[in-house]
Amino acid sequence: MVTVRAPATSANLGSGFDVFGAALGRPADVLHVEKAERTTIEVTGVGSDFIPEDPDGNTVGAVAEALEAPAHIHIDKGVRPASGLGSSAASAAGAALALNELYDRGLTREELVPIAAEGEAVVSGDAHADNVAPSLMGGFTIVRDDGVTQVDASIPVVTCLPEIVVSTLDARRVVPDGARMEQLVETVSNAATLTVGMTRNDPKMVGMGMDDAIVTPARAELIDGYDAVREAAFESGATGVTISGAGPAVIAACYKSDRRSIATAMIDAFERADIDARAYQTEIGSGAEIV
Ligand code: HSE
Repeated sequence: MVTVRAPATSANLGSGFDVFGAALGRPADVLHVEKAERTTIEVTGVGSDFIPEDPDGNTVGAVAEALEAPAHIHIDKGVRPASGLGSSAASAAGAALALNELYDRGLTREELVPIAAEGEAVVSGDAHADNVAPSLMGGFTIVRDDGVTQVDASIPVVTCLPEIVVSTLDARRVVPDGARMEQLVETVSNAATLTVGMTRNDPKMVGMGMDDAIVTPARAELIDGYDAVREAAFESGATGVTISGAGPAVIAACYKSDRRSIATAMIDAFERADIDARAYQTEIGSGAEIV
């Protein structure tokens, strides 16, 4: 039996739509995996009622098939599905790491990324790697068609998860078809600033680089209270605020000393919009680990 803890992740970080991702210290999924004649799946924990246990409909079933590694996989969900915190990616990344170990496949974490992304395709219809890459590799990741660039960044963050659901499909439908040249220039500037900020572990630069005028404003319409939550986070010291992944979670970069007040301010702002929310005070940190 192999047990793996696979962390939540935040994709996009504003300026890096479908490219940037970051591993979060918490929450996480925990997977207990043992060899079996055929793959069976058991899901417990947060939101488990909404996750199919049929291997054909579950993200980890596709991973087991891709690795030709049948197993009994117990997923204890810590990452709420449809949260924008890479819930299915955490399960897929955890299963890929566990099965690689259990069946001695000898693949590197980077080589496991496309395999875990196959699992993502089962849920979202598209093999996005911007959540599985950081969940497997940790830190800050840049996903390219030909591989992943990883930086061992450590930046304090707050993620605030409201009790609403935004489907990735809806969030992708509102993405604009194009952008103006000045928006593209601004995006390159922000993405470059964020990337350098990650290499320097500089919360101010990372926050500045999270601004995005193309995708985030369209998606913000799907999250009641988003503008007020963003403003409240900035007023409490956040260096940057944006939608986490496809939402509805909101992520704020900050200095560690401001984390608690930012978390409270974000929860209170959602509450003023009549939406319950919880916040995780955490940091960009390690990838999945065998425990
Ligand atoms: N980059 C993706 C999106 C992440 O924002 O739609 C969700 O899988």
